[in-house]
Amino acid sequence: MIENSLWHPVAQAHEVVDAPLGVQLLDQPLVLWRDPQGRVRVFVDRCPHRGARLSMGRVENGHLECPYHGWQFADSGQCVKVPALPSFTPPPSQCVKAFEAQEAYGLVWVRLATGEELSAVPALAALPAFEAEADVQLRKLNCGPYDVAASAPRIIENFLDMSHFGFVHEGWLGSRDATAIEAYAVESTPTGVLATGCKAVQPQSNLHSTSAAEVEYTYEVTAPYAAVLTKLPESGSTKAGWRESIALFICPLTPETSRVWFRLAVADFDSPDAQLQQFQHTIFCQDQPVLESQQPKRLPLDPRAEMHSAADRMSSAYRRYLRTSGITFGVC
Ligand code: FES
Ligand code: CO
Repeated sequence: MIENSLWHPVAQAHEVVDAPLGVQLLDQPLVLWRDPQGRVRVFVDRCPHRGARLSMGRVENGHLECPYHGWQFADSGQCVKVPALPSFTPPPSQCVKAFEAQEAYGLVWVRLATGEELSAVPALAALPAFEAEADVQLRKLNCGPYDVAASAPRIIENFLDMSHFGFVHEGWLGSRDATAIEAYAVESTPTGVLATGCKAVQPQSNLHSTSAAEVEYTYEVTAPYAAVLTKLPESGSTKAGWRESIALFICPLTPETSRVWFRLAVADFDSPDAQLQQFQHTIFCQDQPVLESQQPKRLPLDPRAEMHSAADRMSSAYRRYLRTSGITFGVC
């Protein structure tokens, strides 16, 4: 499964402390913990002895200890202690499966494929790009997680979709009397899809809008379950030069459920975090019930399965990209 070769976000980095944390990725329960050097470690959340959940255990002497009989595992996954047999040295075969992890964008990222299971597609080997991250003029903060009863690809499509603004986000990102979508450009990139020249008239396009403004967006799919929108500066905005980028990072929990984070990069160093998060929260809470109502829950990749309009060419390009990437999780 190609999805196993991708890096996926599984938790906020600050949540992973010295107590183990249970998470899920691609139907696989995982346990995260921090070793004494501060590195995040990831194991299958199942003790190889009698199957107890390791995330119910604790970190003891720099090892992860199972809650049931106290077997201890080193950061490699090797069992190093069996308390019932104090003088026994466990052989290399007595271990729990460990995965790679890294921290970026305030999140912990994990990939399930190791060694020769790794796909050879080079574009998939990297974390999803988020250019705004390196921009010191932009402040970064996360919003979420949201647990959503929708597949990751349905959530990406919702993020790319402008023609729902006047209905789902009426009075915020759109209005019922300005629903036309001007033609925009779509191209493929090595890691996904890029759409430019996406325009919308928005009553309240960000926290600081005081009047409706025409907003121009760039949308980019940066990995099968990641996307970035960049708002170009608005002409009608009171805050001259206002610009922001929002990344959507999704953890596919199961084919039909997801955990979602937004990473905001905004030219606003004054407003409190909670105020910036509240705007994004309001918008996503408008999307969530509609997203969860969509059937089938898995995104149909057969072009004949749903009907399309010319305004949907971004979503059509995304579906083509998933098809050619060989993605199977969350699609049908
Ligand atoms: Fe984990 Fe026995 S089930 S030590
Ligand atoms: Co929306």
